[in-house]
Amino acid sequence: MYFSKWVYIGYSDYLGPGFRIGGNMENGPRTDQLGQAATLERSHDICLDFMGDALTLKDTETGVHSKRVSTFAIKIARDMRLSAEQTKTIARGAFVHDIGKLATPDAILLKPAVLSADETAVMRQHCARGFEILQNVPFLAEAADIVYAHHERYDGNGYPRGLQGEEIPLGARIVAIANTLDAITSDLPYRSPQSVEAARKEIRRCSGTQFDPNVVEAFMATPEHIWAGLRREIGNLAYPG
Ligand SMILES: [Fe+2]
Repeated sequence: MYFSKWVYIGYSDYLGPGFRIGGNMENGPRTDQLGQAATLERSHDICLDFMGDALTLKDTETGVHSKRVSTFAIKIARDMRLSAEQTKTIARGAFVHDIGKLATPDAILLKPAVLSADETAVMRQHCARGFEILQNVPFLAEAADIVYAHHERYDGNGYPRGLQGEEIPLGARIVAIANTLDAITSDLPYRSPQSVEAARKEIRRCSGTQFDPNVVEAFMATPEHIWAGLRREIGNLAYPG
């Protein structure tokens, strides 16, 4: 039986029931039709695992970051009472949101300092690069729209297209907050990690400008210790070396 390294998030006191980013089948096929569906879902898992491994080969931190962002996005989507199908699309978009960084030169991606204006412009291309490679993968076509828009801002001052408000897919508005929570609480080459409380303050401060106020409200309803616990739990998972 195929054992997924990246796409299964087990039951968690902080998240609730386990979640599989690729497929749903947990108990094996009972009929030919279910057997085909299980095979297809296993293919999705393998495809997503491949992407997780590829990102990790490029940059270990980006790979692990993707799993944390995906987990945070699932938590927000569940708290917003989105459907299981919507939640899965958002989880997939979150998991592959930085896949376009495969095209980012190492000298920029791994630079242990703040980027110059030219380097920032190159780094920002990862949204479009990610969209381009995912849009033709049928089970990731909707996730590709999230990838394209995950650095847009609610007030229209984001990139790459300057989308505004509900022009930005809901999944991308959720991933934007999950991404910021993880970035602020992570140990980056040019900045020490800050507390979840600091991240919550920053996200609340940017409600209505960078972030969708409705998504901020759902995010803020979850207390600090739950986000901290979820982050710790994902960090403790064994990842491929
Ligand atoms: Fe990104």
